[in-house]
Amino acid sequence: MPALFHGAWRLVLVQGMAAALCSGLLRQPYWWLPIHLLFLPAAIAMLTLHLPSWLYLSAVLLLALVFWGTVKGDVPLFLSSSAVADTVKAIVDQENAEVFADLGAGVGSVAVPLARQRSLVVDAWEYAPLPWLVTAWRCRKLSNTKVKRVSLWGCELGRYDVVFAFLSPAVMAELGEKVRNEMRPGSLFISSSFPVPEWEPESVVQIEDRRRTKLFCYRL
Ligand SMILES: C[S@@+](CC[C@H](N)C(=O)[O-])C[C@H]1O[C@@H](n2cnc3c(N)ncnc32)[C@H](O)[C@@H]1O
Repeated sequence: MPALFHGAWRLVLVQGMAAALCSGLLRQPYWWLPIHLLFLPAAIAMLTLHLPSWLYLSAVLLLALVFWGTVKGDVPLFLSSSAVADTVKAIVDQENAEVFADLGAGVGSVAVPLARQRSLVVDAWEYAPLPWLVTAWRCRKLSNTKVKRVSLWGCELGRYDVVFAFLSPAVMAELGEKVRNEMRPGSLFISSSFPVPEWEPESVVQIEDRRRTKLFCYRL
């Protein structure tokens, strides 16, 4: 039995290495390598724990509620630092902005600190159920803030003085089109980390946080 066990583990490791090798040869992004390498060993290790099946179902449901559209290629949740929120707040003050939107607000890392500035009207657009719920809860006492559980592609940008987005390179060209068509002349679009292709930013703000985030600021 132990010999069979060791043989099976060897096979599992060979499978992982072969999958990782294929992934490398097919030039998949580098972060796929550990996934291919560890997937089957992790699955087998979990089976040996004999965990109840509802635990797996709960984990899948939880992940689905957080990473709602990610399976079909939408932007996943990852959070801006407090340094980003502070910098966006300073830009909003400098602009004398009255109405602000966060497109894809996540758990409110940027929208909530800005909403605490009572003179500012804040719309936080977020369509993943759990992050939306967290932001809605955090803003429950802030009457200047609306937390909307809808897709950012359906929102109308004409009323905002400043729009903030931290999304992904995959959507920046399309988002740029939307911004150009809908935002008022003179208003400001801030994209965290990802520039709009072929647009010239008015300024790029370098933030000294862990990710060394850049804010690309575009004047309409
Ligand atoms: C990278 S996170 C940024 C979260 C937050 N703005 C921050 O800076 O911490 C992107 C967020 O956009 C949300 N999102 C992605 N596509 C969306 C869409 N079409 N409509 C609304 N929210 C979307 C995701 O669910 C995720 O919470």
